[in-house]
Formats: sequence, C-alpha cells, structure tokens
Amino acid sequence: MGAFQVIPLDHIGAEIVGLDPLTMTDETKKELYATWMTYGVLLFREAAPEPETHIKLAKVFGDLEIHPVKSLLVDGQEELIQLGGHGKNSGGARVMDGDVRIGQTYWHQDTAYTPNICKGSMLRMITASKRAGNTVWTDTSKAFDALPKELAARIAPLETLQCYTDMPRRTWGMPGHELRHARPDEGPVSEVVVPDFPHVVHPMVVTHPENGRKALLLSPLGYLTILGLPEDEADDLFEEVMAHTIKPEFCFDHSWAENDLVLWDNRRTLHYAAGFPVDDDRMIQRATLAGPQPTGRHYSAEADQSAESASA
Ligand SMILES: [Fe+2]
Repeated sequence: MGAFQVIPLDHIGAEIVGLDPLTMTDETKKELYATWMTYGVLLFREAAPEPETHIKLAKVFGDLEIHPVKSLLVDGQEELIQLGGHGKNSGGARVMDGDVRIGQTYWHQDTAYTPNICKGSMLRMITASKRAGNTVWTDTSKAFDALPKELAARIAPLETLQCYTDMPRRTWGMPGHELRHARPDEGPVSEVVVPDFPHVVHPMVVTHPENGRKALLLSPLGYLTILGLPEDEADDLFEEVMAHTIKPEFCFDHSWAENDLVLWDNRRTLHYAAGFPVDDDRMIQRATLAGPQPTGRHYSAEADQSAESASA
C-alpha cells in the first residue's frame, strides 16, 4: 500500500486518505502532484490542525506567493492570507434570492482580471460556518470534453472581455436567480472599491500547460462580452456554455469541517463561494501557488476593434 489512498469524489476531484503530511518522501510528493494533475481538486479532510502543516502540504504543489495585500497576511505566516471573520465584520453582504449572505462570491477563476490566471490555491478551514459556507468547484476540462462538438468548435476561436468586479452582470448559468449587494438595512454594506485593473481578454478555451487537456476559461464574475459578436448573441452563447459548465455532474460541492484542506488547479476549475449568514462566524486561510499561466492580454480598444473589423 502506498503512502495514501485516492478516493474519487462523486463527480470530480478526489479525497486523499491516510496521508501523514509530516513524513512525506519525495516519491510520495511526486505521486500527490500527479494525482492533483489527474483530478484537479483534492480534498484532505481534517488534515491540518495548524498553519505549518497547511504550508508544508501546499508546497508539495509549487512555490507559494506572498499576497500583495499586506493586511490579509497571517502574522508570522506570511505565505498565508486570512479571509472571513465574525459576520458583519467580515465584508459586504450579498442578497441571493432574498437570502442575505457574507462572503458570497460568484463563479470565477482567481486573478482572471489579469492577463495570466494563477496556478492554484489551497484553502484551510479554521472556523466553519454552522449553517452554510459551502464552496463549489467545477472541472472545466471535464465540462469541455462533454460539450456538443459544434458548440466546442464554435467557441474555440472566441475570446471574452473581462473586468475586475465583485458583482457579475448576470447570474450566468443560473437563470432566474437574483443576486445584488445588500442594502444597509439588510446587512453590512462595504464601500465598493474598484481597483484600477485595465480590462483583459482571455480565450474561452485554453490548453492546460502540464497535462495538455483543453479547459474552459470563463470566469463569469468579470465577464463583459465576447469579442466580435453582437452583445445579445455573445450573452446567449456565454449563458449556454455556463449552464453546461456548472451542471452537477462536473461539480464538487464541499460542506466544510474545521481543518479541512481543499487544493484546486485554477487553470481547469471555476469556483463559487455560497457565503454564510450575517450572524455566523467563518474563518479560512489560503496559500496561493505561484506561477501564472499566460493566457490572455490587456484589452486595447484600437488593436482589438481593428482585428475584429479585419476578420468580419
Ligand atoms: Fe476565488
């Protein structure tokens, strides 16, 4: 028997069982990395009671980044950031179908508002919300492989225009759901600070740099349009692809326990944070893997529009 067992989860991803993070050999680390490339999302249940174990395990999958927002860094553990907190002190509230939530973040790929999406991240739950707070991942390679051939061929040459935002234009792929910022009488209202990131362009289909598989790069949180298509047509197409991509058979919906770790490959997954009630607590720490995948470019109105008219 090896140093750990791999138990595939219901639809995507795998749970790693029986691993002792403190006694990993180089061979074990290589096997873990290969397992990550196969499954995209790895769950380690109640595996890290302290931050040192989190950091040690995350480093099996690459070097770690020091986050540029210094206020998020964990004291004495600068390779980690801390997110969440006690309800109303932990960020602005969102209202989804009338339900007020803190920490709700719509489907996205991390750093898709820059030309190069990041490699991946590993979360560790410190204080789990008692009533909510799930995170959901979807495997965009598995979703791509299951696309109807004509639809895959249609989107293969297309690119999306993306911006930095905390609120999607629509609940892409979840039609009929209402999502908005909370009003002051409903929950804490955070000042909307929109950092000055220029718009970027990403291909809708990318090739994974390590396993060579195709994957969808959609990040609907910041989606504005598809270049070269009339807005209605672009939105209808994006909606169709998103509705396919977040079907339950491509998703892992995790209900957290304290000290759980989840690692994901940002180059082939999207994730969604469901948020937690305003009067609840939730605290989580994250290690971010360095090494962005070059995917897109900054948008240039002049260059992109003349390319569009040349190809029209
Ligand atoms: Fe994220």
